[in-house]
Amino acid sequence: MNIAILGFGTVGKGVYEIIKNNGLTFLNVTKIYRRKGSKMTLPIETDDIDSILNDDSIETIVECMGGLEPAYDFVTEAMKKGKNVVTANKMLVATFYDELINLSDDHDVYFLFEASVGGGVPWIENLSRVGFVDDVKGFKGILNGSTNYILDRMTNEGLEFDEALTQVQELGYAEKDPSSDIDGDDVLYKTIISANVASKKSFSMEGVLKYGIRNILKKDIDYFKEHDFVCKLIAEYDRDTNAIMVMPELFGKEQSISNVALNFNYVELYCNSSGKLSFEGQGAGKFPTGFSIVEDLIRIEQHAVVPMLTTEKVHVKYEKFDNKFYVRYKDDKVEILDGMTESEIRNDNIAFIAKIN
Ligand SMILES: NC(=O)c1ccc[n+]([C@@H]2O[C@H](COP(=O)([O-])OP(=O)(O)OC[C@H]3O[C@@H](n4cnc5c(N)ncnc54)[C@H](OP(=O)(O)O)[C@@H]3O)[C@@H](O)[C@H]2O)c1
Repeated sequence: MNIAILGFGTVGKGVYEIIKNNGLTFLNVTKIYRRKGSKMTLPIETDDIDSILNDDSIETIVECMGGLEPAYDFVTEAMKKGKNVVTANKMLVATFYDELINLSDDHDVYFLFEASVGGGVPWIENLSRVGFVDDVKGFKGILNGSTNYILDRMTNEGLEFDEALTQVQELGYAEKDPSSDIDGDDVLYKTIISANVASKKSFSMEGVLKYGIRNILKKDIDYFKEHDFVCKLIAEYDRDTNAIMVMPELFGKEQSISNVALNFNYVELYCNSSGKLSFEGQGAGKFPTGFSIVEDLIRIEQHAVVPMLTTEKVHVKYEKFDNKFYVRYKDDKVEILDGMTESEIRNDNIAFIAKIN
């Protein structure tokens, strides 16, 4: 299969090196698209996107540029020209899910995005397979390694949030601007994509409850430790209530999820036939993410793709949450509340909130 890689940064290089180093000669990278002015060293590098989109010998595009533009234009144009698309771009997939799935259907091409959620963890493929056989009742898990690292260091080393954030940035796990990680946007994209695959719908991101860990303090962690809880930033979907949310949650120390250390990802899904299934691994990085893209390429090569279904965009509506919640208000008062409504959760006076499991 002839392939073009768009964007040659961390993930793009990971894909290229895995194919070369592992002798996957049936995957033939014939072009690499780079930004104009980039220092190019390989003869297959080009800054002319039309030379890729108009090349009928290229069957599959691997999009590793990130962002919405020009990724959206290139990906949709490629599908209209009969090319398969594999992408790691969670923002693109979460934003245009229904449109991109329908476009791939209309043009009889594959559109795969395993690497967009959970890095090297084989999550999306398994979620879609389970959904093909049975209904996925829900999922819950850690889908952001940087915030897991921060929470792990705060819990196990007693670090303040800022100290743990600096560590995670020095290790290269978080961007210079860490907002997307610590405010929960990165997890929101991944939760929406996963909920879409699980439900065969297309959820709008608008109005989804999303809390990050920007405001967590050492004194919150001290309180959780005193009460034998561990805090994790959680991606959650429940089929029966249609609840999709991104929120810090507290778990008993003995639960598997509490023991997910450093920058690892961990996610559980629930279905009647299989019961609980859990997936754990490296959620980011050059080779884990590149690996998931190569897995998608092999699925295309083997025509072993579970069909993805979708609907028009649906909006999330919440019922009352019956759980207990830990709430610290801006005036420093702490309360444990038994059940909360959506509007109570959205109270502007809350500095930090965590759902108790
Ligand atoms: N890194 C991870 O561990 C990881 C994990 C899962 C998913 N992802 C997703 O994978 C995608 C790529 O991430 P990355 O970490 O590989 O980013 P990256 O290292 O910044 O690489 C992106 C590459 O795309 C190029 N690029 C960006 N915009 C371009 C444009 N308009 N025209 C041409 N080239 C362009 C960049 O060129 P310049 O260097 O010239 O800007 C760079 O070479 C993102 O969607 C990200 O969310 C990443």
